[in-house]
Amino acid sequence: QFNVQADQPLKGKTILVTAGATREQIDPVRYLSNPSTGKMGYAVAEAATKKGAHVILITAPTNLTPPQFAEVVNVTSTKEMYDQVMENLNKAHIVVKTAAVSDYRPSTKFSSKLKKDDVNDDYQLSLVKNPDILKEVGKNKDGQIVVGFAAETDDILKNAKKKMKNKNTDMLIVNDISAKNAGFETDVNTVKILFLSGEIKELPTMSKTRLGDIIVDEIENCIYSDRP
Ligand code: CTP
Ligand code: CA
Repeated sequence: QFNVQADQPLKGKTILVTAGATREQIDPVRYLSNPSTGKMGYAVAEAATKKGAHVILITAPTNLTPPQFAEVVNVTSTKEMYDQVMENLNKAHIVVKTAAVSDYRPSTKFSSKLKKDDVNDDYQLSLVKNPDILKEVGKNKDGQIVVGFAAETDDILKNAKKKMKNKNTDMLIVNDISAKNAGFETDVNTVKILFLSGEIKELPTMSKTRLGDIIVDEIENCIYSDRP
């Protein structure tokens, strides 16, 4: 028995979206991060609210305005993002992991500014691995549709397929970040979408706003794939 309103097909569904670049503090004035702007994740969040979903947007710092009706959870580090994702996971029907997280963090967070004259000229920063949020979500999912992203420069599809399997996702959106018009710091993106069935959709270059709509359409197809 399906009772889905045509214009609000995701009404009653909660979608957890992570976005932005996490920051790993080295000392009070320095951090490790990456150039992700958060645009892709915010576009997915916006597209999902338009379709009637309740959006929990777990976001690292960005310069963007969140969608009006989203429930926004602000985080900074990967560890904080991990904690918030795990805390909200059981409320979600869909998880989209757009955030560009740091794979490593400094093993020590200095509480005072590191002074350059106090360390050697070949000072080595020691790092430890962060939790893999998507992998943990994949491991602990309980009926949720899980959508991952991947950034690759070489052997794109081979690496992407491996990632999808390893992280137990239902869909994986792959960016070839060696290509023009893809990935970080642009308003457009060129991706391939991998599905659990083995199907691969190659999309043309398009705005992140448009791509957000398409990703949410694909999620909707996935949810209602058994719709008569
Ligand atoms: N991801 C995550 N937690 C991490 C690292 C990655 O949740 N600690 C998620 C990203 O949000 C993305 C997906 O995993 O949805 C793939 O990220 P990517 O950096 O492409 O892959 P990694 O598994 O980190 O492997 P590598 O960077 O070595 O390619
Ligand atoms: Ca990574």
